[in-house]
Amino acid sequence: MREIPSDHGRVLAGDRDELFAEALRLTLGARAAARPGRFIWALTGGSTPAAFYRWAVDTGALPADLVRGTHFTVSDERHVLLDSPESNFGNAERQLLEPLGVPTDRRHPWMVAWPVAEAAEAYRRTMLILAGPGRAYDLCFLGMGDDCHTASLFPGTPLLRDDGGLLFGGQEVPGKGWRLTITPSGLRACGCVVVMALGAGKADALHRVHRGPLDENNVPSQVLRACADRVVWLVDEPAAVRL
Ligand code: 6PG
Repeated sequence: MREIPSDHGRVLAGDRDELFAEALRLTLGARAAARPGRFIWALTGGSTPAAFYRWAVDTGALPADLVRGTHFTVSDERHVLLDSPESNFGNAERQLLEPLGVPTDRRHPWMVAWPVAEAAEAYRRTMLILAGPGRAYDLCFLGMGDDCHTASLFPGTPLLRDDGGLLFGGQEVPGKGWRLTITPSGLRACGCVVVMALGAGKADALHRVHRGPLDENNVPSQVLRACADRVVWLVDEPAAVRL
């Protein structure tokens, strides 16, 4: 793997298996830094995390004590039930948590059966109990969309301008429906953030984030610059071509 200079975090470029092995190494590091028995790992949606889930299940790379002892959640969620193919937590359960046998008391979905405001409030309370005041996840996995969104922080979304200091929130995203998401304040309160972006389709978005002018409102992934010392970008060579 090679390291690419950026003000937005450590950028590591390599092939898929190297990147997934690095994601696992970062995960074990984040667990070692977390309070014993309280490691909170947020997964996310999208195709790259799904490929990581397949890799983890197929290779058996996740140690059994990590599988049993981790509190699993997702960094953002659509306001749909868990059995929907649109559900990030539902997909994580089907593709990773079930095959690995993660105990149900270690699974913490967003409360999507409730109206969005109540669902966000209930999730904030759960995370307050698990993580403690002012803390979010020990490890947050993220993807990035072609429009440079990450989690459910889309271009122009009001939470980018003002999240009121709340670590988690809910909002309606025009054209995408209601979303529950970690906020910019929440991202700054994570122990470690790992952004995975693979494939040539991510090259332009990565260029805008890392080489373009600062414009968080239109390039939401740039919010990670505020916690760059805890952010690692894992990108393959086709994605890194414009960095
Ligand atoms: C989601 C994710 C979203 C995703 C990106 C990238 O809920 O879908 O939170 O941010 O990671 O859209 O998705 P791909 O990896 O499929 O391009």
